[in-house]
Amino acid sequence: MEHLDILISEEEIKKRVKELAKEITKNYKGKDLCLICVLKGAIMFMVDLAKEIDLLLEMDFMAVSSYGNEKTSSGVVKIIKDLDEPIEGKHVLIVEDIIDSGRTLSYLVKILKDRKPASIRICTLLDKPEKRLTDVKVDYVGFTIEDKFVLGHGLDYMQKYRNIPYIAVMKDEDN
Ligand code: IMP
Ligand code: MG
Repeated sequence: MEHLDILISEEEIKKRVKELAKEITKNYKGKDLCLICVLKGAIMFMVDLAKEIDLLLEMDFMAVSSYGNEKTSSGVVKIIKDLDEPIEGKHVLIVEDIIDSGRTLSYLVKILKDRKPASIRICTLLDKPEKRLTDVKVDYVGFTIEDKFVLGHGLDYMQKYRNIPYIAVMKDEDN
């Protein structure tokens, strides 16, 4: 699209997703893996990743939202849609689009840990470490990026642009 600058191309994403999937396949061999997609941003990444992982696995979905009011956004997120299946005893891999402050993920990890999974790890397509406010441990990172607002491949700007097959930034935007 004309008003977008490509930051990470479709080919680069595909290549990196394959590498991550290979690593995950190796690390979870013989285990019950459950991929948890954090809706909606992680949908494209999770689908691509799942197709490249050579294991019998489960896919489940969760939707959360941060409280908009800054005064109450101290790591508290609201569950909009919970998982369909229990995760007790399963090896859980949370699949995220991007980690910014890390607040969403810290909270998610906390509530999912209470359900007694065998293990819980995090896989994110993008990581913006500069903005991190929590010490959440990320196990698999697709790309580490600068602190810029990005969109595409699942990531939105006001709910649009999720269908763009690459990661982009808005042109002439001072972000
Ligand atoms: P955190 O709790 O600050 O880590 O927020 C992470 C969430 O904020 C992600 O799951 C995205 O939905 C959203 N987000 C953070 N940075 C961006 C961005 O550059 N583009 C689009 N969404 C973003
Ligand atoms: Mg999101």
